[in-house]
Amino acid sequence: MDSPLDPVLTEQLLKLRQKYAAMGQDLSSYLDGLLYSDYLTYWDYIHLDTLLSLQNPKTSFKDEKVFIVYHQITELYFNLILWEIEQIVDHPNLDEKFFCARLDRINRYFQQLVGSFEIMVLGLEKEQFLKFRMSLLPSSGFQSGQYRMIEICATDLINLVNAKDREAIGENSTIDQQIERMYWRSGATELATGKKTLTLQQFEEKYMNQFKEIGDKHRDKNLRALYLKKFPDSAEVKSRLRELDEFANVRWPLAHYKSAAKYLQKNPEDIRATGGTNWQKYLPPRFQKIIFYPELWSDTEKQEWGKAGLMS
Ligand code: HEM
Repeated sequence: MDSPLDPVLTEQLLKLRQKYAAMGQDLSSYLDGLLYSDYLTYWDYIHLDTLLSLQNPKTSFKDEKVFIVYHQITELYFNLILWEIEQIVDHPNLDEKFFCARLDRINRYFQQLVGSFEIMVLGLEKEQFLKFRMSLLPSSGFQSGQYRMIEICATDLINLVNAKDREAIGENSTIDQQIERMYWRSGATELATGKKTLTLQQFEEKYMNQFKEIGDKHRDKNLRALYLKKFPDSAEVKSRLRELDEFANVRWPLAHYKSAAKYLQKNPEDIRATGGTNWQKYLPPRFQKIIFYPELWSDTEKQEWGKAGLMS
């Protein structure tokens, strides 16, 4: 037998026994488990093999992998943004410091996304893109559920209602009425027929109920509602929310629009390589004018929304 246990170890064992006893568990069995379990490796911890098995191009064009991986990276950042929002929303005692710290994180994630969009704008061969994109129809980044969830959690739903219905239904309309009129639903119509695109139909089938649930949960607990209720006079909160508005509703959409403008035909009749929307009238932020925090912008800033050079 080795030398007796040193006092620190004894102390740790006693604490562990207490912890397990509190849940009616036997520490000794857990120590056996520890004895037989393997050491953790980096690759297991981050599930590297699984992660690297999730890129499955539909064609043999080399650049399709770049396209897939960049979408996956974006979705992971979207997921982190939602993660930070949930921490704000679920905080039992939300204070200004925590709110600002999490908003800073969200803005940093958006900054990475905006800064890296050149991977799409400059990093694909157009000839390859136009070919492999045809194998992906009718899917589109438009069908990113997490993108819509970020919007729903960031503001009151009425700010996401398409501009022409916003005044008509008013702030006190129900979640159902507002969700029915989300700006992106009216955006995704076929050029030729004015009917809902298949891209939209499939998207709604998968996500619409979830969007309603999230809208319901965040009706009084979205970032805008929390700011107005708890910190209406905080300059610190306001400046971060302005930054978020600018990232989410101007800078990311403009960076994204650049890639559509670069790769897709300008001729509206020839939009076969998209989900079928009139993207030139839909994607530029100056057309939708989605603004999460309208009270934080002057009338001129709102009128000029989405035009290059307005923002910092
Ligand atoms: C070469 C790169 C890209 C091109 C040419 C492109 C093109 C388009 C087009 C044309 C649309 C309008 C809907 C449609 O007709 O399908 C759209 C929407 C959208 N795309 Fe992309 N996209 C690209 C990359 C990305 C990436 C990397 C993401 C990240 C997830 C993304 C996310 C979205 C989202 C969220 C929308 C809806 C935007 C809104 O409703 O305002 N796209 N894209």
